Amino acid sequence: MLNNLIEFVARTHLVVLHFPIALIISAAIVDSSRLLYSKLSGKSIGDHFHPSNTASVMFIFAFASTLVAIATGLVLGFDYGKSADLHRTLGIVSGALILITAIALLIARKNSGTKSALVYLVFLCVSALGVSITGHLGGNLTHGEGFLTDPIKQLFSTQPEPEPEQLTVEQVAQQAQELNITIAAFETYRSEIQPLLDYSCIKCHGEKKQKGDVRLDTVAFTLDVDAAMIERGDPDASEIIYRVELPSNDDDAMPPLNESHPFTPSQIESVRDWISSLTP
Ligand code: HEC
Repeated sequence: MLNNLIEFVARTHLVVLHFPIALIISAAIVDSSRLLYSKLSGKSIGDHFHPSNTASVMFIFAFASTLVAIATGLVLGFDYGKSADLHRTLGIVSGALILITAIALLIARKNSGTKSALVYLVFLCVSALGVSITGHLGGNLTHGEGFLTDPIKQLFSTQPEPEPEQLTVEQVAQQAQELNITIAAFETYRSEIQPLLDYSCIKCHGEKKQKGDVRLDTVAFTLDVDAAMIERGDPDASEIIYRVELPSNDDDAMPPLNESHPFTPSQIESVRDWISSLTP
């Protein structure tokens, strides 16, 4: 009961965290663009710049949600341990920046000088940068490092995708028969499943390393009866599915947290479909 409550509080972090990010960035955009606009149009507001009411209200909500995000984040952090160190530190640093910004805002609203308002605006923008970086690191924790940038990196990568080995029709038929799977299942494995395993699992379960005595670099190894990674026709009973579907912070999850690219739900679906297509 108590554990469930703690888990609930910890998980609210993943909901609440979006508020400070969105609100602080919005407040920074609102006040910076007012300053910019007045400078560009040569109006007098640039000389008497002061924090707008809109941005101030946004900031107050941002401040409150930051406190909640930090508190819940510290509770959630126990699950992630060391891997969350940088995210945690930057989260607290951002919290401190937001506190300073709050003080600067109070001062700026009290005396209407442009200088104190500019100090506030600078701290607001630095805080916005802080929460953005912290949020990005947090995203890497839950989605895996490179979740956001990998598709773009692949776009510019000069390395060609490794082509599956060319096999003649006879070779395909023969190998499929030896493995006791259909030609279609053999072809699907080569075109869809092996590339996923190559990308996410091979660095620990390939030719060079076989962590936990598992090899996943050929269909023969993946289907190996002794390794028992796959229960033909039954994805729910397959160790491989069990491991990739565990929450990323579970000790048994594959790939281990922050070590490689976790499967996306649609990739898991492909592996599930392939296992279902195999006759026991
Ligand atoms: C950074 C290294 C690493 C990566 C990447 C990795 N694994 Fe593992 N894997 C391990 C280690 C270490 C073990 C042994 C400890 C354990 O059983 O949890 C293991 C064990 C396993 C086991 C259990 C073996 C058994 O005997 O029960 C399975 C299944 C597995 N991995 C599947 C995968 C899959 C599928 C991927 C890719 C999505 C993957 N692993 C990616 C390191 C890795």
